[in-house]
Amino acid sequence: MKIAVVGSNMIDLITYIDRMPKEGETLEALDFKMGFGGKGANQAVAASKFESDVMMVSKVGDDLLGVNTIKNLKECGINTDFVTIQKNKASGVAPIFVDKSSKNSILIIKGANKNLSTTDIDAASEQLKKCSLIVMQLEINLETVYYTIDFANKNHIPILLNPAPCLPNLDLNYICKCDFFAPNESELGILTNKQVSTVDEVKEAAHYIADKGVKNVIVTMGSKGVLWINNNKECFVEAHKVKAIDTTGAGDSFIGCFAHFYVTTKDILLSLKKATAFAAISVTRYGTQSSYPTRDELESFVKKYN
Ligand code: RIB
Repeated sequence: MKIAVVGSNMIDLITYIDRMPKEGETLEALDFKMGFGGKGANQAVAASKFESDVMMVSKVGDDLLGVNTIKNLKECGINTDFVTIQKNKASGVAPIFVDKSSKNSILIIKGANKNLSTTDIDAASEQLKKCSLIVMQLEINLETVYYTIDFANKNHIPILLNPAPCLPNLDLNYICKCDFFAPNESELGILTNKQVSTVDEVKEAAHYIADKGVKNVIVTMGSKGVLWINNNKECFVEAHKVKAIDTTGAGDSFIGCFAHFYVTTKDILLSLKKATAFAAISVTRYGTQSSYPTRDELESFVKKYN
C-alpha cells in the first residue's frame, strides 16, 4: 500500500498581517513564521501522519533549505530516495501573507522544483510501479505532470491530480486520464470558464468536467465543504464549523489525508469525510505542515462532531 507524491517542496515564509502595505508604505506586520511547505511536500506529510507508506519524487536546491527539507521529509517517515539535489539551484520558497480573516496570498519561487523532469520519473519508475496511488499538483513542469500521467495509465496506477496552482492551459485530455481530479472552486472556475459563486454553479461546472470523462471530480470549497461527482453519484460533504486562523495548506492537508484513507479503504465517501475533518483542524492552527493534526487528534475531533 504505497502513495507516491510527485511534486514540489518549498520553504514557507509566512507573514501575518492586518493588511497589505500600500505602494511606497512601510508597515509593521503582526508576526512571522518560517516552515516546511510546498503543495507536494504538504500532501506527502499529511498522508504520512497516518503512517501511510509514502514516497516523494521531488527536487531541492543545493542549499541549506534543501538539506533541511530532505531531513524534514525523512523525519516524517517519507521515503526520499527520489528527492534529489539540483546543483547550482536554490530551493523553492514561498512568501505568504495571512490576514486577520485567516485568508492567504501566496507567491511561489519554484527554484529547483522547475528541474523535476521526465528523467526523474524514469529513475523512480520501478518504485512508482509498486504504488497504489500517485498524487500530483501543478508546481512542477506540465511536461513532467503529463509524462507521469501517461506512465501511470500505462502501468494501471490510479492518479489524483490537484490542479493547484491553476494553469489555464492545463490540457483537458490529461485531466480525463486521472482517476481523481481535485480542484478547489476557484481553480474549477478558471479551468471551465464558468461561474462558481454558489454550490449550484460549482455543481454545474463539476458536471461539465465529469461529462468530459473524468472518473471522479472532487471540488474543495473551503468552509462550505466538498463536492464529489462521478458518472452515477453526486455527493456533498459539509465542512465542520471551526474558528479559522490560518488556512495556508488546508487544501493540501485534505488531499494527503484523502489519499491515505482512499488507498487503505477504497471508500471514497469515508475518505472525504476524514479529509474534511483533517483540513478543518489544520485551519485552527498556524503554519502549513505544522498545522496538521496527528491520527489521534483527528479521531477525537471526529468523535466530538458525531
Ligand atoms: O498550498 C499551500 C502551499 O502553497 C504552501 O505551503 C506554499 O509553499 C505553496 O506551495
